[in-house]
Amino acid sequence: MLHKNLKEFPKNFLWGASTSAYQVEGASLEDGKGPSCQDVKKIPKGTTDLKVCADHYHRYKEDVALMAEMGFKAYRFSISWTRIIPDGIGEINPKGIAFYNNLIDECLSHNIEPIVTMFHFDMPAKLDEMGSWSNRDSIEWFTNYAKVLYDNFGDRVKYWLTINEQNTLTLDGPIVGTLKIPEGCNNILKEVYQQNHHMLVAQAKAMALCHEMLPNAKIGPAPNIGLVYPASCDPEDILAAQNYNAIRNWLYLDVSVYGRYNNLVLAFLEEKDALPEILVEDERILKSGHPDYIGFNYYNTSTVKASDGTEALNEADQQSVLNEPGFYLAYANPNLPRTEFGWFIDPIGFRATIREIYSRYHLPMLLTENGLGAYDKLEADGSIHDQYRMKYLKDHIEQMALAITDGCDMLGYCPWSAIDLVSTHAGIVKRYGFIYVDRDEFDLKTLNRYRKDSFYWYKKVIASNGQNLEL
Ligand code: BG6
Repeated sequence: MLHKNLKEFPKNFLWGASTSAYQVEGASLEDGKGPSCQDVKKIPKGTTDLKVCADHYHRYKEDVALMAEMGFKAYRFSISWTRIIPDGIGEINPKGIAFYNNLIDECLSHNIEPIVTMFHFDMPAKLDEMGSWSNRDSIEWFTNYAKVLYDNFGDRVKYWLTINEQNTLTLDGPIVGTLKIPEGCNNILKEVYQQNHHMLVAQAKAMALCHEMLPNAKIGPAPNIGLVYPASCDPEDILAAQNYNAIRNWLYLDVSVYGRYNNLVLAFLEEKDALPEILVEDERILKSGHPDYIGFNYYNTSTVKASDGTEALNEADQQSVLNEPGFYLAYANPNLPRTEFGWFIDPIGFRATIREIYSRYHLPMLLTENGLGAYDKLEADGSIHDQYRMKYLKDHIEQMALAITDGCDMLGYCPWSAIDLVSTHAGIVKRYGFIYVDRDEFDLKTLNRYRKDSFYWYKKVIASNGQNLEL
């Protein structure tokens, strides 16, 4: 649809950026923090461990000041469960509470709205030993943790997000280093979807509790949503795209918003003998948790073609398609360029995704991640010329403006990432930030912060409320 006049971004639009605790904080076992699954996992070969990351734990004041200098209206960060409750259940760590109190207060002192993700890929290691999300008790563990967060931070935090990229955990758990499968399990898919079900119930309980305890707060999910295209107009390809759209995207939002499973997903799981056990009580709980908005991460779209069920499996990460013979197969979209790390780039797909989410759920949306991972270079004069990142973000912001003009309700834009941090599986050299952190994969160097060219550019974007996108 061509528009003659673009609508402006809403006046209180939440321009900002995102991080996650285990990727940015470091201090992984400091001040009473317990180990999470990220601290005990096998680190991918050739990449850093997570002990220091960007050292945000010690430098958050400097980092928030830089965000304020860019004009951030919001900062989306996650809380580390094991910094708050070292074993995941039981005793609370006062130093963990103090750290997030300080971080929240620091944001507020700069008029930056804290947007808190409750869980971002970092299950407490102790709970992993107790069966992780396979254990039905995980619903109570998470609800109890949510209550501790609301009790301690609910007086100042208005925007909450439940579980980051639950769909990535379910579809690509090993890539992001999470989801523990019990030894001897002979139906892994069923186990994974049982875990997924427990997360969905836990999320619904956390949302209901949030509304009960904090009537003025807003809470939403944060899956990774990217529209799935059919490889062609062959009707079989259309069905394949519907299958993957349901399994990758709509399952998570249908349950979260409507409290019911998507029928295509149920049919897929039944076919695979992988239906989770859903108690009657669960159905009631799922219906009781309503999001106030939809947070979603968008990196790109996917494209699939039909499968006759005889094809081989392939390799994939969170932004590519793992073949599901009989249901859909990965297809390389020839219309899209790729990043240095092989991810497709599709700004128009961002507009299409926003439109689709809005027409399905009619809730305000918050973009919680979007961005370009690249090898940035620190020049001798302290500059970093990341024009490629500015171009990527500009193209996406333009499409978001078009989606708003299409009538979609966007609350804010928080790309990945506010500052350089450790990637899920490609180390710290895969950088996303507006702020450069002086360290390499294995050499911590000075850890000093430098403003990238995208830093100054985003500052202009925010100051003009998205009107000035000039590169
Ligand atoms: C999302 C995650 O999948 O993408 C982030 O929520 C992650 O944790 C981001 O860092 C980028 O992915 P990667 O693999 O490049 O770090």
